[in-house]
Amino acid sequence: MVESGRLPADGVRQMFDRIAPVYDLMNRVMTAGLDRRWRALTVARVVRPGDRVLDACCGTGDLAVAARRAGAGAVVGLDFSDAMLERARHKEPGIEWVQGDVLALPFPDASFDAATVGFGIRNVEDLEAGLRELRRVLRSGGRLGILEITTPRGVLAPFYRVWFDRVIPLLGRVLPGGSAYTYLPASVRRFPVPEDLAAVLGRVGFGEVRFRLFAGGIVALHVGEAR
Ligand SMILES: C[S@@+](CC[C@H](N)C(=O)[O-])C[C@H]1O[C@@H](n2cnc3c(N)ncnc32)[C@H](O)[C@@H]1O
Repeated sequence: MVESGRLPADGVRQMFDRIAPVYDLMNRVMTAGLDRRWRALTVARVVRPGDRVLDACCGTGDLAVAARRAGAGAVVGLDFSDAMLERARHKEPGIEWVQGDVLALPFPDASFDAATVGFGIRNVEDLEAGLRELRRVLRSGGRLGILEITTPRGVLAPFYRVWFDRVIPLLGRVLPGGSAYTYLPASVRRFPVPEDLAAVLGRVGFGEVRFRLFAGGIVALHVGEAR
């Protein structure tokens, strides 16, 4: 199941509960620290001063914290993993940390000005249903930013395959929750390519959908406006 990049929701939650202690460190190592810059760029595109912001699949909270520091009025971070949320709570008590599922968000319609998802939507069992929920809780004109790993095409592709299919699973073997790092490359392979993700966003009610690629096409940021 892990090799196919598909896990039921309970499996995903348990996997993140297990890797929570090493998650931030692995992020820094795997991205050579670039993840901080990608988060800052995401927030810059999506969050306006005073906005009420939802960071869904917030994990240990780095994107929510970046939104708060960029001047958001109120930030809510939501995740279904207790252990990931526990780490987030220690980072920023000024954010409301909520345990919940992105497939059934515990918020009224149109209750946010902006929403972000960082490296999370790929793990959601039903991508389209998750994006529809995010659309539901955004006011009309509200912005959504999806930061996600994607499979690069072109010159970087062979290097990426070695890094992702060999080095990362190897790192996973010496760290707790090793299976997560086998799951990671498989889950990226089955995730829609950037053009297809843009089309899904259009289907679920976002307009003005744009994406840009970072780090030679390893990471994509999609931004859309709720219609
Ligand atoms: C790779 S981590 C990303 C964490 C954080 N957003 C970041 O930028 O580092 C993915 C997170 O998504 C959460 N997640 C996956 N599926 C979810 C769902 N259906 N509802 C809520 N959280 C979910 C996991 O628990 C995990 O913390």
